[in-house]
Amino acid sequence: MNKFVTIATLAAALAVLGTGIGVSQQTGQELKGLRGGVAPEVDLAPGDVPKQDTAGRFSRAYRQQPPLIPHQIDRYQIDWRTNQCLGCHDWSVAAKQGAPTLSMTHYLDRDGRQLDSIPGTRWFCNQCHVPQADTKELVTNTFKPSTDVK
Ligand code: HEC
Ligand code: HEC
Repeated sequence: MNKFVTIATLAAALAVLGTGIGVSQQTGQELKGLRGGVAPEVDLAPGDVPKQDTAGRFSRAYRQQPPLIPHQIDRYQIDWRTNQCLGCHDWSVAAKQGAPTLSMTHYLDRDGRQLDSIPGTRWFCNQCHVPQADTKELVTNTFKPSTDVK
């Protein structure tokens, strides 16, 4: 019986993955993913790439937000050996380059040890930092920073 239930759940999960449609547990809203619910085997034309806003800096929407990137990044390579962002933002060169220094949180490894060079957990900058652009949210939501709900 248990085995049957597991298989049935798996089949249901696969069916949902196949169509790319899911239902948010919090809002009950239908989520269609970036592909708008179109199955992965169907080729889609790439969507419009939002235009980056490089005039000034956007404010953070909440205190802990990774700041958005105000400059272009398409020429800065990041792979397992090279990280060109560090050529300006690492503590050892930032002053000379006139760039903001990485905050010290970026030099803690996963065990909380302070390092002099950036640990693997912060290596891929654009996992957290994205170029700034004023775009429509992917999922409608009512998020407010805590300072606005006091
Ligand atoms: C040529 C030097 C240079 C390189 C390379 C560079 N940056 Fe920057 N970065 C800057 C400067 C200068 C600023 C400040 C710009 C401003 O105030 O408008 C900045 C600002 C930022 C900010 C905003 C910080 C804040 O507090 O608002 C982020 C985030 C950032 N960069 C991330 C990156 C990432 C990620 C890369 C690599 C993909 C990168 N930068 C590569 C020079 C650089
Ligand atoms: C795991 C997510 C994560 C990664 C990976 C990451 N950052 Fe950050 N970054 C943050 C957050 C969150 C903040 C704001 C809070 C803080 O300073 O810790 C931040 C802050 C910054 C700031 C602003 C510092 C300041 O004091 O104003 C810069 C510049 C920056 N990051 C650049 C980078 C660069 C360059 C990389 C890649 C080498 C990188 N970050 C990797 C999450 C990340």
